[in-house]
Amino acid sequence: MMVSSGALALSAWAVNTNTTDNQTTTGKTWNYVPLDTERTAALAYQLHNQGKSCMYGVFSSIVKQLAEKVGEPFRSFPCEMMVYGAGGVAGWGTLCGALNGGAAAISLLIGTAADRQALTDELFLWYQDSQIPTYVPENPFFKADLPVVKPDSVLCHPSVSAWIKKAKVNFYSKEREERCTRLSADTARKTVELLNRRHLGSFTKQYKLNGETVGCLSCHGKDGIKADVLAKSCAGCHSPSHNQHP
Ligand code: HEC
Ligand code: HEC
Repeated sequence: MMVSSGALALSAWAVNTNTTDNQTTTGKTWNYVPLDTERTAALAYQLHNQGKSCMYGVFSSIVKQLAEKVGEPFRSFPCEMMVYGAGGVAGWGTLCGALNGGAAAISLLIGTAADRQALTDELFLWYQDSQIPTYVPENPFFKADLPVVKPDSVLCHPSVSAWIKKAKVNFYSKEREERCTRLSADTARKTVELLNRRHLGSFTKQYKLNGETVGCLSCHGKDGIKADVLAKSCAGCHSPSHNQHP
């Protein structure tokens, strides 16, 4: 784009320097300030239960604290819209709503595409590769000693299925509901930990795509001989035992 007037050039420059790397949309700047990770976890646990939605729990635990600390434009953000993420988007079992909420917060708060990507990758890899839930509420909605399971997927349905198998309960049990509520606390805590580290300039990647995925993508990813796939994990859906690879 050609800059045709001095005023335009000046305002473009002003936007870049004033907002550094925070997201700016429709004239609003969503400035992040560091939050307490444990308070965030506790809030996400409560808000998930209130909104009956993991995505709402994670997202609003962050934005409601920013509304307290920063004020506008956070105070006017319609957090209620995030209830759609429950059950992997309205019960479709796709992307885990806790992750959807974390990714939405990252997307709102971080203006630099590469950083948004890096933090979202880190959050998703942490989730699929961690034994969760680990959050232990002071006053649980449902008192239980819950097992931890590595989801091995970022999708709601496989993540829940792996867990209910280990817990020996069904999807509609109180245990499963409590597990997901605690998982929202874990995910909100992790999201804020990443946002804090990025804010302080101390963010480094700790997780990587697993070796098998990297192998698959060497042929199926961009620049591969097939170049027909956009994904960052394969095993959850294409296990070698289920798929005959040609
Ligand atoms: C050395 C390159 C290479 C690697 C590594 C590779 N693939 Fe492929 N894959 C191919 C090619 C080439 C085809 C297409 C074969 C054909 O159409 O005959 C293919 C086809 C497939 C198909 C389609 C099979 C079908 O029945 O149509 C799937 C699914 C697949 N690969 C998954 C994977 C997964 C998952 C991995 C990693 C575990 C992987 N591939 C690793 C080259 C590779
Ligand atoms: C959420 C589940 C899911 C994930 C994750 C996933 N796939 Fe698939 N993939 C599918 C489904 C479903 C199909 C279509 C049905 C089929 O062919 O089995 C498919 C089809 C394919 C095909 C065949 C395309 C064709 O033209 O026939 C390839 C190749 C493939 N996937 C590779 C990969 C690779 C490599 C990864 C990891 C980087 C991956 N997939 C991750 C579910 C998934």
